[in-house]
Amino acid sequence: MKPFDVDYVRAQFPALKRTVNGLPAAYLDGPGGTQVPQRVLDAVLDYLVNHNSNIHGVFATTAETDAIIDGSRRAMADFLGCDSDEVSFGANMTTLTLLLAQGIARTLRPGDEVVITELDHEGDRGPWQLLTDRGIVVREAPVDLESRTIDWDGWQALLNERTALVAMGYASNATGTVNDVKRAATAAHAVGALMFVDAVHFALHGSIDVRDIGCDFLACSAYKFFGPHIGCLYVRRDANEHVDPLKLRAQEDEPPYRFETGTLDHEGIAGAGEAVEFIADLGRHHADDPVAVADRRAAVVAGMHAIEAYEQPLAARLIEGLSALSGVRIYGPPAGHPRTSTVSFTLAGSNAVDVARALGAKGLFVWDGDFYATRLVEKLGLVGQGGLVRVGLAPYNTAVEVERVVDAVAELTSQTG
Ligand SMILES: Cc1ncc(COP(=O)(O)O)c(C=O)c1O
Repeated sequence: MKPFDVDYVRAQFPALKRTVNGLPAAYLDGPGGTQVPQRVLDAVLDYLVNHNSNIHGVFATTAETDAIIDGSRRAMADFLGCDSDEVSFGANMTTLTLLLAQGIARTLRPGDEVVITELDHEGDRGPWQLLTDRGIVVREAPVDLESRTIDWDGWQALLNERTALVAMGYASNATGTVNDVKRAATAAHAVGALMFVDAVHFALHGSIDVRDIGCDFLACSAYKFFGPHIGCLYVRRDANEHVDPLKLRAQEDEPPYRFETGTLDHEGIAGAGEAVEFIADLGRHHADDPVAVADRRAAVVAGMHAIEAYEQPLAARLIEGLSALSGVRIYGPPAGHPRTSTVSFTLAGSNAVDVARALGAKGLFVWDGDFYATRLVEKLGLVGQGGLVRVGLAPYNTAVEVERVVDAVAELTSQTG
């Protein structure tokens, strides 16, 4: 792979021209949603200007809309490593998961069990917890608070012949911990359970291969990887029999349409397909051998590898720089454990919101709070101090921006004493 060409990446994002108080804006809020390259903006605009219509009609723009949605479905299938009839679009991950959970519950019996984790985002907890209304037993696997990883023994102990489904995040949007979802899928299937993966945070940081994971369902959101605000759901073709989706008469019964309620966000879908093309071109741009990335799936995988290879040393430097500051405590997995480039910390004596505000005034856009990893932040005992400060790296961030964060936090530590 060629050295990462961050100038090539940055030149494509018009938002990066923004300044705050005379300083260049550093978008370190990627885990909340990334910025969007010009080509995605163009795809959204082109759809609305030239092809805007509803679907399945018999005139030009409706046929073009059908073709654009089909095209984006194929692109998203290449992003996930599946076939396009296994990809459904929807409002966002949470809404798709809520619908999926209700659809799965209709095939379950009271007393059947679902296993969630304490590490996960509420989008991968709440939809399953709601099933208790239907007599489903929801069990919560513990997080090891010292290592901020799943307590695998505790998790495994919850699995039994009543387990119908296991839900797990691919990566924590609060700590960056990457979970071994392949191991979880294997263990889930060993007890006859289905496996759901929340890949929303992971999707920006590594290539997803649903066949390799062996999961039955996986959800992600295009706005976390350079696209518009829409969600995607993978449903393994044969897993459809385990879901009886909430469906209206107007809806087609076939996958992938059976999970798509009402008129979709066509322009968002057009943009999501283009976001995948952006990642594929990133792969082509950095590949040593053009033949190896001739097909789009291979180019997407190469693009994600390029992103990961670029972000990991930046994250390591950020961790090193912050760890050296007195009063800073980083809440990530242990060194050597798979992680994303998302780095969260606390500053002794400061509320997270005050740290984020001070950084924001310097053009450093970082999040504070629990980011809906609410259970984890509660368990960590951080609610009273405003949760965590989260610095999220994306491929358009730079080593200079990382140093700006370290310097800005150093300045705060000297103020707090
Ligand atoms: C790990 C994780 N899961 C789920 C979600 C929810 O995604 P959506 O906003 O698409 O519903 C998020 C959003 O931040 C997330 O980071």
